[in-house]
Amino acid sequence: MPNGNLDNHLFPIGSNGNSVLSWPQRKSIILDVAKGLAYLHYGVKPAIYHRDIKATNILLDGEFRARVADFGLAKQSREGQSHLTTRVAGTHGYLAPEYALYGQLTEKSDVYSFGVVVLEIMCRRKALDLSSGSPRSFLITDWAWSLVKAGKIEKVLDASLMNGGDSLNANPKGIMERFVHVGILCAHVMVALRPTIVDALKMLEGDIEVPTIPDRPTPLGHPSFYRGDNNNTFSISPALSALQLHSGDMLR
Ligand SMILES: Nc1ncnc2c1ncn2[C@@H]1O[C@H](COP(=O)(O)OP(=O)(O)OP(=O)(O)O)[C@@H](O)[C@H]1O
Ligand SMILES: [Mg+2]
Repeated sequence: MPNGNLDNHLFPIGSNGNSVLSWPQRKSIILDVAKGLAYLHYGVKPAIYHRDIKATNILLDGEFRARVADFGLAKQSREGQSHLTTRVAGTHGYLAPEYALYGQLTEKSDVYSFGVVVLEIMCRRKALDLSSGSPRSFLITDWAWSLVKAGKIEKVLDASLMNGGDSLNANPKGIMERFVHVGILCAHVMVALRPTIVDALKMLEGDIEVPTIPDRPTPLGHPSFYRGDNNNTFSISPALSALQLHSGDMLR
């Protein structure tokens, strides 16, 4: 594909000549991916779960239209059955917690990964960053939610989206914020709270309201996940913690 993958454009290595994606380009990429997933989940029978939705698997054509690629991990659903898989595959940062932990594979695992991609596109930050040297790793879902919850959604949006150039659009900021909300909702820890990809698409297009986002468990970076002094600090995943999430909640 002439424009390579989405990751190349969101997170270019060095100055490889890629200019930053505009808001109309980002919006159309997100909608294209949602439509691609809606086709996999509802347009074919049995449904197909992609299992590896992430920025490097979203390819861009000459007009920056997005195609969901790389079906190396895709699985056909088993009608009427929730699929439990013993071999979890996918990519850190994009994996739905119930799938990563329990191997529970449903269409909502792809919806989770889609939500992470939406947040990456809107924030221009990587899904997961363990490289900072800090024990407090960066997980985009927790980071975005804690800011949105605190009423600071403008801090979540990529600053380059705010640099004008989209004046033709009547209210781009309101629409951008809606996209962030949908991303957070799709990447909610609890399966039942995630919309289907079809409903997520309707929310993105403004055809249905984005519901109020129910709270998430305490983020990974929260002090309650750390114990001991600075020399002996360890962290546990919120998904593994029973502190705020009752066991089994994620499976519903
Ligand atoms: N048709 C294509 N046009 C342009 N780039 C492509 C095409 N197919 C694959 N790529 C790119 O080639 C690279 C290697 O792809 P590959 O699928 O092996 O790795 P990946 O997407 O990083 O990880 P994963 O194996 O988990 O999918 C990626 O950057 C991918 O986006
Ligand atoms: Mg790939």
